[in-house]
Amino acid sequence: MTDLRLGVLGFGLRGPLALTAHRPGRGSRVTVLAEHDPLLRGAAAARIPGVRTVDDHREVVHAPDVDAVLVLTPDHTHADLAREALRAGRPVFVEKPLDITIERCDAVLRTAFETGTRLYVGHNMRHMPVIRLMRDLVRGGAVGTVKTVWVRHFVGFGGDWYFKDWHAERRFTTGLLLQKGAHDLDVLHWLAGGYTRQVQALGDLMVYGDNRHRRAPGEPKTEDWYTDSGHWPPHAQRALNPVIDVEDVSLVNLRLDNGVLAAYQQCHFTPDYWRNYTVIGDAGRLENFGDGPGAVVKVWNSRRSGHRDRADAEYSVPEPPEGAGHGGADPLLIDEFLRFVREGGRTDTSPVAARMAVAAGFRATESLRDGGTAREVPALDPELLAYFERGQVPGEA
Ligand SMILES: NC(=O)c1ccc[n+]([C@@H]2O[C@H](COP(=O)([O-])OP(=O)(O)OC[C@H]3O[C@@H](n4cnc5c(N)ncnc54)[C@H](O)[C@@H]3O)[C@@H](O)[C@H]2O)c1
Repeated sequence: MTDLRLGVLGFGLRGPLALTAHRPGRGSRVTVLAEHDPLLRGAAAARIPGVRTVDDHREVVHAPDVDAVLVLTPDHTHADLAREALRAGRPVFVEKPLDITIERCDAVLRTAFETGTRLYVGHNMRHMPVIRLMRDLVRGGAVGTVKTVWVRHFVGFGGDWYFKDWHAERRFTTGLLLQKGAHDLDVLHWLAGGYTRQVQALGDLMVYGDNRHRRAPGEPKTEDWYTDSGHWPPHAQRALNPVIDVEDVSLVNLRLDNGVLAAYQQCHFTPDYWRNYTVIGDAGRLENFGDGPGAVVKVWNSRRSGHRDRADAEYSVPEPPEGAGHGGADPLLIDEFLRFVREGGRTDTSPVAARMAVAAGFRATESLRDGGTAREVPALDPELLAYFERGQVPGEA
């Protein structure tokens, strides 16, 4: 098997995904990488032997030695860069979220449809062991028919990860309910077997907004912008992004197209970082405790009772291999993308689902900025839906 030659756009914090995809002699290697920041270009050249580094994405998208493109740039750039690569006939991997508005997501899906070039969206949580375990239990009937799903995201490192760079600005993300929430809204849809039709949300900027310790515009992040255990409590944070106009807490209610009712909560000033999912069906309930090493999923489904720590069934979440990013999800995500580029076929991630996660997050953000009014989430054009449901294969004329 000859290596697929990959072009990469962006080598920031998500750069390690390019390293995961660089497997010379084992099916794929990164040949060209574009990055605006010269220091990061240097870092890429040092860590990816033989890579050509450039500052203009067009030198990647149109390079003769590129078979497929990974888009690892900030969210608001995804649609333009992905569409350019699709038009050049290069299959594309786009990081999540697909982009920051419904219209921009739809434009990417339409370009993929019109060009017939393969599009893949990197929703790595669909490859996380804890999520796959819950999905398998739900599909196996552990809780009966799913009726309601409640997701809580405790974003313990939120101050470091989301309030010190572009994530803190609406113009680059729409808001964190979309930016960060796109993962969980997608998983929620996956577990519930439907897409959001209606949303209603409340949210606020409660903690970081009052913190006046901001960097000057253009000043780089400090060396110690992230620590494992420091920067606590949140008001001790320093050198935040100059502009902060996104919410740091959001509460959303959702009605799905299959009748499931769901709730999603996201808070960026908790001490702990993890996600808790509860899935309640008409014959049981399951919940995860932890989502990394040592995590378990418990199922209660035999009888009614008070709180029972000893559930009816308890499953250990499989441990990822050492160093595999995001609970082991990243290598699996790249495996699936490479397989899809070579052979096409079904994938566990889905451009339609990625669009629906953004759509739910976008409308929910509108709701919370308008006093919590209910919003409808627009359906995707049936022509595009059909194309992606066929597995990105052209249909009958
Ligand atoms: N799936 C996940 O778990 C996960 C985790 C982290 C980030 N992400 C996503 O990955 C993407 C990148 O995030 P990040 O944290 O690495 O951001 P980042 O800001 O650290 O890095 C992005 C890099 O892209 C470069 N860039 C911007 N426009 C460019 C262009 N036109 N051509 C070449 N380079 C360009 C910037 O110079 C920057 O270094 C975002 O969409 C983010 O939401 C996903």
